[in-house]
Amino acid sequence: MSRDTLLRILDLARWAPSGDNTQPWRFEIVTDHHVAVHGYDTREWCVYDFEGWASQLAHGILLETLRIAATNFGLETVWQLRSDSEDCHPVYDVHFSEFNGLPADPLFPFIEKRVVQRRPMRAIPLSESQRQGLVSAIEPGYKLQFFETFAERLKLAKLLWDNAHIRLTCPEAFEVHRQIIEWGSRYSKDRIPEQAVGIDPLTGKLMKWVMKKWSRANFFNRYLLGTILPRIQLDAIPALMCSAHVIVRTRLPLISVVDRVHAGVAIQRLWLTVTSLGLYLQPEMTPLIFRWYARSGRRISSLSRVNQEVGQLAGRLESLIPDDQGELVFLCRIGHSSEPKSRSIRKGLSELMNDGS
Ligand SMILES: Cc1cc2nc3c(=O)[nH]c(=O)nc-3n(C[C@H](O)[C@H](O)[C@H](O)COP(=O)(O)O)c2cc1C
Repeated sequence: MSRDTLLRILDLARWAPSGDNTQPWRFEIVTDHHVAVHGYDTREWCVYDFEGWASQLAHGILLETLRIAATNFGLETVWQLRSDSEDCHPVYDVHFSEFNGLPADPLFPFIEKRVVQRRPMRAIPLSESQRQGLVSAIEPGYKLQFFETFAERLKLAKLLWDNAHIRLTCPEAFEVHRQIIEWGSRYSKDRIPEQAVGIDPLTGKLMKWVMKKWSRANFFNRYLLGTILPRIQLDAIPALMCSAHVIVRTRLPLISVVDRVHAGVAIQRLWLTVTSLGLYLQPEMTPLIFRWYARSGRRISSLSRVNQEVGQLAGRLESLIPDDQGELVFLCRIGHSSEPKSRSIRKGLSELMNDGS
């Protein structure tokens, strides 16, 4: 395999999604057949990256994208977590080998097309073949649970409504929101552009002003019903305007970094399959993340009111799912829509290289 082919594979893999478009990875070309992916996480500054779990899911998404991209060049991919790497800086050794007659993965054409859709979608029911396509997209170690009827979507809408109250009134989350939105943009290389957030331009202007200072946001939330407008636009309406909400659960407990990386593989297969079916998807990860906090007994905030709400929300989420030993790894909504006009783009390949090549 030539260096040029390797660079093309890495260039495609850049399109892997990550929470808040953080792209928590750097590539090191060790040989033309061996890339070391230096993962990291954002738990230091991002309250949503609970113990690095969201980043580890993203690492799995990236590794699966690399694997799928490589099949287009007749290459088989094997990766493993370097045994001496730390949980917060996992290094994945990825080896490519020529495999005569290896067909391109059917999901290959969708690597660059896949995109998050945060705006309301059309609530056309999923067909049986679409549902089956999604179920068979991922390995038997995972289960999908669909919430499709109006009553089920309403239940999710209520959960997401209360979930958003936590997000918007938690000072630790406020700092994250401030950092990850690129205001006034349609595209963003390393964040989420304002136009992809899903708010109308007027609410956007207001949010930008309110989000300048926590004291301002806090006052607005407390006395001027400041969470209502964004919650209607970003949570309630989109939660109803979709074909289904889907939870991905593991059958067994998630214990190690590798378990979470494998869950990321499943998430990317599901998301690319959604794209291949002509549908769109938005992850709705914060209820799950809040549950991860609640289950581990870790406090998310310095405010006890926020921690209490997180505990209650986790309980409500649990009441929606069967009581088994698995872990929730993904919650999303899926629907019919036109292509979003705004999206996150990516850092250039040279910025993602940590060996100067
Ligand atoms: C692990 C993970 C968690 C995410 N959580 C959310 C979420 O809770 N809400 C949301 O709107 N988008 C979420 N996203 C979507 C990312 O923000 C999005 O994929 C990223 O900004 C890149 O944009 P793109 O998917 O359009 O390429 C998540 C993505 C990943 C991989």
